[in-house]
Amino acid sequence: MIVAVFGAAGFVGRNLVDKLKKEDIEFLATDVVKSPFGKEVNYFKADILDRKAVRKVVSKADMVVHLAASPLLTSLENPIISMKINIEGTLNIIDASREFKIDKLIFSSASSIVGDVKYNPVDEEHPYTPKTPYAVAKKACEDYMRVYKELFDLDYLIFRLFNVYGPWQYPESRALIPLVYKTLTQRKFSTYLETALLLGTSYMLKTSQTSFVRPSKNT
Ligand SMILES: NC(=O)c1ccc[n+]([C@@H]2O[C@H](COP(=O)([O-])OP(=O)(O)OC[C@H]3O[C@@H](n4cnc5c(N)ncnc54)[C@H](O)[C@@H]3O)[C@@H](O)[C@H]2O)c1
Repeated sequence: MIVAVFGAAGFVGRNLVDKLKKEDIEFLATDVVKSPFGKEVNYFKADILDRKAVRKVVSKADMVVHLAASPLLTSLENPIISMKINIEGTLNIIDASREFKIDKLIFSSASSIVGDVKYNPVDEEHPYTPKTPYAVAKKACEDYMRVYKELFDLDYLIFRLFNVYGPWQYPESRALIPLVYKTLTQRKFSTYLETALLLGTSYMLKTSQTSFVRPSKNT
């Protein structure tokens, strides 16, 4: 079995690549950036907006894991780019997976598609009110997958990730937890609102059992 990993150079992708290597599973890693891996990783540099390149990767695989995305904050600054990468790029992968009869397509969606939380715990039946272009795109991709299953019998699995954290995640990724961690450790917050927000997040961090520095009342 060969697994194609889109977004392999990203945070989740690099952890997945480590795991696939450990488990001795054959894989093909791909991302739009230069390979961050050594020669031992079979890597192909490709943009998911390039249909031909996507087809080339998918044609070699039995299973596809799609982790490539334009981040949430970019969707607020440039909703058009976000839509292109997160919807059109994903559709290129979905459609190639249909064409090459992929055994399973795994997609990383996001908890943010839920929007307003009406009840807890949030389950799969919870209503959706996406609040950002990023979340709208993730929801659209989930719908595309359902429709491709109904029309073309494409087998898929969706993970709606919450705030994941761990090795290979840096503040430059603009993900929430490393940003909060960096802010807390550098103590670059001053207002009551910021402190309140950070304390709220610290609770989440604490319950997630990660180590972190609690802000003092004077800051
Ligand atoms: N990390 C989280 O907390 C979190 C939460 C919810 C959802 N997700 C989703 O999980 C997936 C993985 O998240 P992550 O934290 O590893 O993100 P990440 O930003 O670290 O990695 C995404 C990768 O996609 C690549 N990419 C961007 N545009 C591309 C393009 N046009 N063509 C090919 N590759 C492109 C980037 O180069 C990057 O390596 C993403 O789909 C993300 O939306 C992550």
